[in-house]
Amino acid sequence: MIMYTFFENNADSLSNKTLIPFSTHAGSGLAGFDKKLAEAIPNSTIAKGIAIAGDDAQNNQDSARNSIESWLSELGF
Ligand SMILES: Cc1cc2nc3c(=O)[nH]c(=O)nc-3n(C[C@H](O)[C@H](O)[C@H](O)COP(=O)(O)O)c2cc1C
Repeated sequence: MIMYTFFENNADSLSNKTLIPFSTHAGSGLAGFDKKLAEAIPNSTIAKGIAIAGDDAQNNQDSARNSIESWLSELGF
C-alpha cells in the first residue's frame, strides 16, 4: 500500500517516463502492481517487470542472477 500511495502522490513526476517494475516476493510475484502502476500513471510506458523470490535472492543467487540478466537483456540493457 505504501507504494500505491507513492504512485498516487507522485503521478505528475512519474508521467511521461518509462517505468520498470521489479520486486522481491514470497509467493505473490508482482501481485498485479505493474497493472496498478499503469492505472495510477496513465501517461507512462510500463516495461516488462520482474519478481524474484526473496528466498532465491538470498539462497539461490546464481538462478536469481540469470533471471535478472535475461530480463535486462530482453529490455535491451
Ligand atoms: C509485512 C509483510 C508483508 C508481506 N506480504 C507479502 C505478500 O503479500 N506477498 C508476498 O509474496 N510476499 C510478502 N512478504 C514477503 C516479502 O515480500 C519477502 O520477504 C521479501 O520480498 C524478501 O525480500 P527481503 O529479504 O528484502 O525481505 C511480506 C513481508 C512482510 C514483512
